[in-house]
Amino acid sequence: MYVCLCNAITDREIRAAADLGARSLDDLSASLGVATCCRRCSDCARDVLNEHLAASACAAGDD
Ligand code: FES
Repeated sequence: MYVCLCNAITDREIRAAADLGARSLDDLSASLGVATCCRRCSDCARDVLNEHLAASACAAGDD
């Protein structure tokens, strides 16, 4: 699904950025352009990122 409509960024792209090292909304803004326009996507983008990072940590046994 699209998370950032202004920049046509999907949840899949946010997860891929997290796999490449993104750890914050600022990281997503820098790498993908998320939340660089109207910023209405900020909360959703942060949620997608944090959920993916938590799931990755559980899968890796880091929790
Ligand atoms: S929807 Fe992401 S900046 Fe507007």
